[in-house]
Amino acid sequence: MVTTEDVYGALRAVMDPELGSDVVDLGMVTHVDIDGGDVEVGIALTIAECPMRGQIDAETNRKVGAIPGVERVKVVTTAMTKRQRSELMETARLRARERAQPTRVPTQTRVLAIASGKGGVGKSTTTVNVAAAIADLGFRVGVLDADIWGFSIPRMLGTTDRIEADEAALMIPVEAQGLQVVSTGLITEDEGTALMWRGLMLSKALEQFLTQVKWADDLDYLLIDMPPGTGDIQMALSRLLPQAEMVVVTTPQQTAQRVAVRVADMARRSHMPIIGVVENMSTFVCDHGEEYALFGSGGGQQLADELAVPLVGSIPLDTALVSGGDDGVPPAHHSPDSPSGLEYRRTAAELVKLVPPLEDETCVGRMAKLLESL
Ligand SMILES: Nc1ncnc2c1ncn2[C@@H]1O[C@H](COP(=O)(O)OP(=O)(O)OP(=O)(O)O)[C@@H](O)[C@H]1O
Ligand SMILES: [Mg+2]
Repeated sequence: MVTTEDVYGALRAVMDPELGSDVVDLGMVTHVDIDGGDVEVGIALTIAECPMRGQIDAETNRKVGAIPGVERVKVVTTAMTKRQRSELMETARLRARERAQPTRVPTQTRVLAIASGKGGVGKSTTTVNVAAAIADLGFRVGVLDADIWGFSIPRMLGTTDRIEADEAALMIPVEAQGLQVVSTGLITEDEGTALMWRGLMLSKALEQFLTQVKWADDLDYLLIDMPPGTGDIQMALSRLLPQAEMVVVTTPQQTAQRVAVRVADMARRSHMPIIGVVENMSTFVCDHGEEYALFGSGGGQQLADELAVPLVGSIPLDTALVSGGDDGVPPAHHSPDSPSGLEYRRTAAELVKLVPPLEDETCVGRMAKLLESL
């Protein structure tokens, strides 16, 4: 049964990047009608020819459509009255003032949480390689290691640099392999900070990373390497970054049904839409180019079918990924024409197609920025 609450939860993930908040908060949702698997959502736009119309329409479709049980989504757009519009600008102004607190992740940044139903399936490997491949397409990409104690991102990206603070005591991400990187592994380990971090709850540590890090203003994508499990961090993430969407990593031999139940449950509890599945360790490619399905095949597609999302990539078993992970040279960036490199490039392109970069350079956006600077 799809509930109104489910739909509003999903709509909270639809951002108006120009106004820097979600469509529910901005009072743009006029109605939600549910009839079994059919959902109709009314959205009032600031102006009928709003340049964001297509984007908001597509986002609403995608995010409401990702709710388990929803079969069809109809978005009905109308234009706001003058009065509604001035109320909306008032809310936008208020949010602009408050925004410094909630998170420092720019509102136009696409946030992809790389998660799985089980540990050790290759989340971290997928995160760094997909991030590198998206960056190679010309986007500004950040990687946040949300595996607070089990961090592996610094090693995989080959960096031992330390995160520095600027004069406002904000953390400046480390630059590695063309990516902005933040991880507990990059925090100075003097006694004071180590103690401070040890004292922080896991979800608090994540909160620090989202509120105290000065990410690049032009960050297009932020990939978050999730820790194994389905606990606190997932919930904290969706609370702090309602625009986050989930990419699920699985291996061919995992029982799709069992993983699907866990992952769907996690997505539902955190209102995080699932956008696609990446199958990892799909086939083994030997040096002669022959492929062997060591772990069976089809698990990724089955999981994607169970979750009703696309399979966005099938990464082969590749020893270059193991050595690359240990030596800090992601094959997606350093050997883009290797079997895994090619597949990471395809995966990156699929993800960018599914979640295109958000535009925020239109009239209302400039107006909102102007308000912010007052
Ligand atoms: N496609 C692949 N081919 C070969 N080795 C791989 C592949 N993907 C991951 N690995 C190796 O498998 C191991 C586990 O991968 P990784 O650390 O990325 O998993 P994880 O899901 O992040 O684990 P955890 O749940 O512990 O965070 C690593 O040693 C990594 O190098
Ligand atoms: Mg990991």
